[in-house]
Amino acid sequence: MILPILAYGDPILKKKAVPIDRDHPGLEELINNMWETMYNAQGVGLAAPQVGHSIRLFIIDANPFAEDHPELKDFKKVFINAEIIAETGKEWLFNEGCLSFPELREDINRKPTIVMRYQDENFEPHEETFSGMAARIIQHEYDHIDGILMVDRISALKRRLIRKKLTNISKGVVNPGYLMKFPLKKR
Ligand code: NI
Repeated sequence: MILPILAYGDPILKKKAVPIDRDHPGLEELINNMWETMYNAQGVGLAAPQVGHSIRLFIIDANPFAEDHPELKDFKKVFINAEIIAETGKEWLFNEGCLSFPELREDINRKPTIVMRYQDENFEPHEETFSGMAARIIQHEYDHIDGILMVDRISALKRRLIRKKLTNISKGVVNPGYLMKFPLKKR
């Protein structure tokens, strides 16, 4: 089932999400619905808070980037209770998008290498190092489970310049091409 993706301005997106265990009700169905929702929106990542669940869960399928980044071929993973334990290297800029911000892209600075602990969909624990574009996508989704958004990582000046655009996103004055829920939309 395709779930509505929450647009910027929804308070759930700003909350720090909580860890879950394997008994979390409806978890398997939620993960299935998140895959369907993400593919329908042509995203490479989706975090549970973006579909209204403030839990530490996100999914990534980076295959659309595999042409330019061969290491991302078959990079399809579920991340539960993820914890970044180290971030190293010299920050680099990349023009990011986010399903909660249709029609907006921003240059975001992030470090190139991370070490992360997480559990997969079977609650098997992993500790892995990710670099480059894989790290970049993970860092973006990881921010979501900490209640941090793209616009929190740009300068105050830049944020002022796009204020009108952000208001339009919250009001639903955008054409995402996928199902969304807008916090300020008049009905
Ligand atoms: Ni996002």
